[in-house]
Amino acid sequence: MFGVNAIALVVQVNQNYLKLKAGYLFPEISRRVKLFTESSPGLDVIRLGIGDVTEPLPLACRKAMKEAIDEMGTSSGFHGYGPEQGYFWLREVIAKHDFQARGCPINPDEIFVSDGSKCDTSNFLEILGEGNSVAVTDPVYPVYVDSNVMAGRTGPAQESGQFLGLSYLPLNARNDFEAQIPEHHVDLIYLCFPNNPTGAVITREKLARWVDYARQHRSLILFDAAYEAFIQNDDLPHSIYEIEGARECAIEFRSFSKNAGFTGTRCAFTVVPKGVCGHAGNNELVDLWSLWNRRQSTKFNGVSYIVQRGAEAVYSQQGQEEVQALVSFYMQNSAIIRRHLAGAGFTVFGGEHAPYVWIKVPDGLDSWGFFDFLLQKANVVGTPGSGFGAAGEGYFRLSAFNSRENVQKAMKRISSL
Ligand code: MLT
Repeated sequence: MFGVNAIALVVQVNQNYLKLKAGYLFPEISRRVKLFTESSPGLDVIRLGIGDVTEPLPLACRKAMKEAIDEMGTSSGFHGYGPEQGYFWLREVIAKHDFQARGCPINPDEIFVSDGSKCDTSNFLEILGEGNSVAVTDPVYPVYVDSNVMAGRTGPAQESGQFLGLSYLPLNARNDFEAQIPEHHVDLIYLCFPNNPTGAVITREKLARWVDYARQHRSLILFDAAYEAFIQNDDLPHSIYEIEGARECAIEFRSFSKNAGFTGTRCAFTVVPKGVCGHAGNNELVDLWSLWNRRQSTKFNGVSYIVQRGAEAVYSQQGQEEVQALVSFYMQNSAIIRRHLAGAGFTVFGGEHAPYVWIKVPDGLDSWGFFDFLLQKANVVGTPGSGFGAAGEGYFRLSAFNSRENVQKAMKRISSL
């Protein structure tokens, strides 16, 4: 692939990677945008594609990180390797604020601090057996699918783009973007609420049905709650552990990326309740907490002391106020996007409890066709729905993560097309 000088070593590659499309979705979008901007220099391209935050880090977090840096400059305050699971003071405040305050029986030692939910949802597959059957929604956050492909849990891609061996649960306007609970057995189910990419949410009653399914089938739910802070209605569950019985059958992934603007700073956490057990081939019960702890302590050296101090500050009074202001800011962007697009005649979904607005593309265009159209005619970047799965074809995602000025400008341009 690199021309005549490439030398074939005897080492084998992981052939599962060859089943994947050439590029991961977001780098592929960046590549296309780069081609476009190089061929038409000087254009003011507005990026509402990848869900990357744009607003400054909360002052409370910056202050805490600065103090931590100064501490690190003293002999008594210096910190070397930290605990792989994260510092207790951070896990304690997470457990108290994010779980116990909502009635979820989660303890600090069930929390594993990490550098991202994307890595954790992928890495978690390492401690699960190869033979597990897996269900994902379609469309879906592509990391869940791609990491299963990489791990050899699927067959090849079919013409539709779906991989053989995975159970796909379609999401579309007809089912209100709510996946139907499978009628067959699956071992492992990925759920993401508020949903990326559709922006849909789930009620307690409906989430309880998934937990019932998992308990009946003794399946494991991987619950991605990276966007929980964007929920605007307190009747909706922020955590799967608000549902009785979920402690027995669910792992939850959380992140500081989107609420506190840590996409570049990197801090997240995963909750592995003690007592969630899988089994070894001989039916011996094995608790996932111990395996995840073994995995993390072998392969991960923890998040830096400085960043964990920054994350801890999210839970201070000032931190909470600033995070709330950030969330409100992006949700106002989302409301602006929804209003303008609806006014321009688009069918609009999501964006009410999530920073993503999911729209139907105009007749006669497919998702990538609309991507090109929007890029060329409005110089606005979004994400084609088909990039999230075959059933996302015909849809398009716009992210609310940008400055107010850019969002307003982008909406003006799209409205006047
Ligand atoms: C997205 O745009 O879907 C997210 O930014 C992806 C991520 O958080 O990794």
